[in-house]
Amino acid sequence: MTLSIVILAAGQGKRMHSDVPKPLHALAGKPMFTRVLETAQQLDPEQILVVYSKGLKAFQNAASPHTITWVEQPEQLGTGHAVLQALDHIPETHQVLVLYADVPLVKATALTRLVSQASRSGLAVLSTHLDDPFGFGRIVRDEGKVVGIVEEKDANDSQRLITEINTGMMAVSAQLLKAYLPQLSNENAQQEYYLTDVISMAASENILVQSCVEPEPTCVQGVNDKQQLAKLERFYQCAYAQKLLDSGVTLFDPQRFDCRGSLEVGRDVTIDVGVVFEGEVVIGDGCHIGAYAVIKNVVIANGVKVKPYSHIEGAEIGDNVEIGPFARVREGTQLAPNCKLGNFVETKKAHLGAGTKVSHLSYIGDATLGDRVNIGAGTITCNYDGVHKHATAIGSGAFVGSNTALIAPVSIGAHATIAAGSVITESVPDNVLAIARGRQVLVESD
Ligand code: UD1
Ligand code: CA
Repeated sequence: MTLSIVILAAGQGKRMHSDVPKPLHALAGKPMFTRVLETAQQLDPEQILVVYSKGLKAFQNAASPHTITWVEQPEQLGTGHAVLQALDHIPETHQVLVLYADVPLVKATALTRLVSQASRSGLAVLSTHLDDPFGFGRIVRDEGKVVGIVEEKDANDSQRLITEINTGMMAVSAQLLKAYLPQLSNENAQQEYYLTDVISMAASENILVQSCVEPEPTCVQGVNDKQQLAKLERFYQCAYAQKLLDSGVTLFDPQRFDCRGSLEVGRDVTIDVGVVFEGEVVIGDGCHIGAYAVIKNVVIANGVKVKPYSHIEGAEIGDNVEIGPFARVREGTQLAPNCKLGNFVETKKAHLGAGTKVSHLSYIGDATLGDRVNIGAGTITCNYDGVHKHATAIGSGAFVGSNTALIAPVSIGAHATIAAGSVITESVPDNVLAIARGRQVLVESD
């Protein structure tokens, strides 16, 4: 059957105490809504519809590049009313999968199972068991068969004891929805149009309601407040850490691991506590990442040592490079094998040749350095004149003395030596010594 997926995202999310619509809050660096959308896409549906109430522009940004049919629900009159808004866009022959934009960790495999269950009789619900089911809709069974869902506020004492709860996700034929949704009533404790009432409507017509029970409740957990968001975040990060441990990575503390993107790691890699990975990060064999490093969109080769508190973004790091502690490696940095960047060194759009060292307190920007260059402490490439950026080139084997200012555009020849404290405004040929500083004067006291 052709599949339409409806993602409900119109709820107000009051308990988040935020101006941002709840589904747009990030889990592991990505909006919950985007996660649900990506999972939905894995089912290869004919169309995805999103029911929203406000913040359309922000939702559209979070949905890019997927094609979405946006359906506005101006007033939140309940989950049944929300799905009804989308129904005009859905042909009668379709099957409909209803998802919540604030349930970020649901798995495509569970949803595929749900959809295939529903194709047998027309509808299926995704449930799970909770030790504390308070607040959730309970699955009411009669001789094992699902006969209804009763909300916490409408449940009687014995129904409240049921621990099988409705996750909210269900798959149902458009035909049944078109028959039942217009008939929903809001005569219940919350005066809402409950989507869940279609279950008892179907059961009363002897339609068999299928159920899938999710064994890991956290995967179908919704987020209502920041506590729950933090709990799901840690669940996600711990699961990611477990996967890395299983593949042989040493994590000094899997509880203090954060990946907000994707991380690919080679053999014999150790990662100290508090490291944050963002975007796409690839780490080769035999590397060590020191405590509290932040690493975003970086490719790291083999044998690399990143020392604590270093910040690396948009860079390519060659074999056996050493970085930090407290280094800032910015976008466009390429470090050839055996380079060394020490403490309080910042690089940007800098290509450093093999074995080149910048050991302390420097800024190297818009620069190309050859092999085995040595940059003394406090050296700065003055790349910006207030209007334009200019380039600096330094040949292989050059030695730049401490506290040199290189006023770009400028080039330093191979094996040249720059005396400490120089302000270099003109290019320096190969093999020469350049001194550009005031002479020392000694004045005798009387
Ligand atoms: C719903 C279910 C309940 C289930 C629980 C799981 C109903 C009547 N109840 O309850 O059985 O145990 O989810 O979390 O369906 N939404 C809209 N428009 C609305 C109302 C809600 O888009 O008018 C969206 C919300 O943004 C949210 C989802 O639907 O993503 C669920 O809404 P929520 O108010 O959280 O439902 P619950 O009362 O928790
Ligand atoms: Ca909820």
